[in-house]
Amino acid sequence: MSDPVPPDIAAALAQTAERRGCFGDPVYYFGETASTNDIAATLAEHGAPEGTTVIAARQTAGRGRLGRTWFSPEGAGLYLSLVCRNPDAAPLLTLAGGVAVAAGVRAASGLPVFIKWPNDVVVGDMRPRKLAGILAEASTGADGLQYVILGIGINLRPAAYPPELAGKATSIETELGRAADSAAVLAETLAAFRELVDRLARGDRAQVLARWRALAPSSRGAMVEWTTSAGDRRGISAGIDDEGALLVKVGGRTERIISGEVRWT
Ligand code: BTN
Repeated sequence: MSDPVPPDIAAALAQTAERRGCFGDPVYYFGETASTNDIAATLAEHGAPEGTTVIAARQTAGRGRLGRTWFSPEGAGLYLSLVCRNPDAAPLLTLAGGVAVAAGVRAASGLPVFIKWPNDVVVGDMRPRKLAGILAEASTGADGLQYVILGIGINLRPAAYPPELAGKATSIETELGRAADSAAVLAETLAAFRELVDRLARGDRAQVLARWRALAPSSRGAMVEWTTSAGDRRGISAGIDDEGALLVKVGGRTERIISGEVRWT
């Protein structure tokens, strides 16, 4: 059903797994699929273990957060989905995913990327441009959490982005001005994720939160705006709490934002 894993990816994953451990066992690779999150969810429904990873060269119906499309042409990005089953890791999995991608991109390419709440991986302070995103989709049953599919999209190379993304999206190679080793970005990201998930499973949330906070300077002291049913609200970001909610000071009060879109103004 799946295609052979390309040799550069197979070699990078095998080497990383041997040296320091790496999320991604087993790996399913597809030349083309609708969405790797759907394949991972189907595998999880059939009992696929924690660590199962689905990678595609291109997606025809890649999904982003908030019902958006994730532009997924061949050769332009890494598109992967991870099956996570550990209930102790679940509450901070998306934060761990953001930290893992930022750490993976930094380690493999040297590009100084940051995180913008909740989990956009960006470059640039004043006018952040997004180069990776994370979509977590959870399945719960009568016994509680069954699994979380963590979908990761990383822009590697320049692509003909649709007009609504032009100026907001970028890629590792666009920013570096040279070629990047995509298999290394993948392997470094999965190695970082393995380490973070293991920490969460041991109950060590502090380290994951500390690393997220260090990579997300805009989560403190920046003017932000968001939309509620009662209209637009504005305030100053005041960090994240230990559940990953964004805190925003509005007048004398602190509001807690758990989902949705926040705009940095
Ligand atoms: C975002 O909107 O920031 C999240 C983007 C997540 C995209 C990835 S690509 C691999 C996986 N499959 C999908 O359909 N979406 C995620």
